Amino acid sequence: MASPCVRGRRWSRAVKMTLCLCFLIPMVATGIGNTNTIFGQKQKLDIQRQLKRLNKPALKSIKSPDGDIIDCVHIKNQPAFDHPFFKNHTIQMRPSFHPEGLSFDDVSSKSESQITQLWHLNGRCPEETIPIRRTKEEDLLRASSVANYGRNKYPQFDTTDTNVTAFHENAIVFVTGDKYYGTKATVNAWKPQIQEQVEFSLSQLLILGDNARGELNSIEAGWMVNYHVYGDYNTRLFTFFATNKDSNQTRGCYDLLCSPGFVQTNKEIALGGSINPISVYAGSQYELHFLVWKDIKGRGDWWLQVGNKYLMGYWPASLFVSLSESASQIQWGGEVTNLQKNGKHTTTQMGSGHFPEEGFSKASYFTNLQIVDGSNVLRFPNYSAIVARKPNCYNVTNFINHFYYGGPGRNPNCP
Ligand SMILES: *[C@@H]1O[C@H](CO)[C@@H](O)[C@H](O)[C@H]1NC(C)=O
Ligand SMILES: *[C@@H]1O[C@H](CO)[C@@H](O)[C@H](O)[C@H]1NC(C)=O
Ligand SMILES: *[C@@H]1O[C@H](CO)[C@@H](O)[C@H](O)[C@H]1NC(C)=O
Ligand SMILES: *[C@@H]1O[C@H](CO)[C@@H](O)[C@H](O)[C@H]1NC(C)=O
Ligand SMILES: *[C@@H]1O[C@H](CO)[C@@H](O)[C@H](O)[C@H]1NC(C)=O
Repeated sequence: MASPCVRGRRWSRAVKMTLCLCFLIPMVATGIGNTNTIFGQKQKLDIQRQLKRLNKPALKSIKSPDGDIIDCVHIKNQPAFDHPFFKNHTIQMRPSFHPEGLSFDDVSSKSESQITQLWHLNGRCPEETIPIRRTKEEDLLRASSVANYGRNKYPQFDTTDTNVTAFHENAIVFVTGDKYYGTKATVNAWKPQIQEQVEFSLSQLLILGDNARGELNSIEAGWMVNYHVYGDYNTRLFTFFATNKDSNQTRGCYDLLCSPGFVQTNKEIALGGSINPISVYAGSQYELHFLVWKDIKGRGDWWLQVGNKYLMGYWPASLFVSLSESASQIQWGGEVTNLQKNGKHTTTQMGSGHFPEEGFSKASYFTNLQIVDGSNVLRFPNYSAIVARKPNCYNVTNFINHFYYGGPGRNPNCP
């Protein structure tokens, strides 16, 4: 854990140095440098503006041991509401039903080993606020443009290095051919090693909407290691959604980083916050539970619950086109990007970094896979299929409602 953090800090210092040099050299060496200065000032202003937009005034701020600052922001002041889209929006604190038929009091009293986030060690957010991971200047500097921070799933769209073409690879189980109104799944959490800073490794459930016009919408939730977005190699809780009103599947955003977007109602858990503890190879296993469902008896919003207890909030139905009625496919599994540096597959791991054949406590898994059907009932899918794009790098083995997935990336069979 220590070495990636050190790498992170050294990297951001390098960026700052580079910037200083960019600002200074033209002015000192040539004495002109007006365009550079103006450019630099414009960027500074953009950064200030964007930080102000994303980091709302906090009623309380909590410093997390991982270096994050968690701002407790009044629920009505969250960044999602900046957009005129939400002009007439009334915040829903609860959906109108729970697909397990539980009342919400049952949900919150259910005992379990709760997931914790590192910042909990140093405090909690008060009533009527939500915890938001504070965006730092260096986070914005990693994006291709300040305005794009957190808005692209894949870093090749989000870096000024034109040589970065990351391929995405996955090992998943999916169901399709029906109308789906949600899904529930349990996944164990790991801390995969990442070779290159712009690569990521994630495990998630993905709810996909498609229509005759090819408008793909998605809702994604899970855990992820993503330096490009978060500036370190911690395992973090994340969400992503993509709407392609402009036919662009990769545009959307992570966590609470855009408006309009996800509306958070929960004061305990921060999207983008790091998760603790993480499973240990051949040792203790730590699981996360996810449930996403469409509130079709209410406004039709898509709700997210994490753990058995934390109702996180919702993606408003009107964000979506093809997901506005139902989903056409549900996927569960791992995804990584592979920079293929020097023509070689990178050693970025998926899941635990071990192949499915190793089994329990060694390979990563999903279990208790369920879908929400047209009668709002959770049930086990009676059919599912797999995709492993490069089984020699990352594989998946399916047992209908649970499966192992993952792998080490580069190895003798995955050159
Ligand atoms: C808000 O409501 C007003 C009055 O009903 C309506 O004219 C307007 O279009 C609505 N705005 C949005 C963004 O929905
Ligand atoms: C999709 O988004 C990427 C990244 O912002 C952009 O480069 C591309 O032009 C977009 N494509 C379309 C069809 O809008
Ligand atoms: C991209 O990579 C190639 C080969 O590694 C190199 O020759 C070229 O200069 C690079 N281009 C940029 C813009 O960095
Ligand atoms: C799955 O099971 C349900 C309920 O038992 C049934 O209605 C449905 O037709 C089955 N679907 C498939 C693809 O077998
Ligand atoms: C991947 O897993 C499947 C089982 O789902 C197995 O049949 C196959 O041999 C594995 N492939 C590799 C390359 O290990």
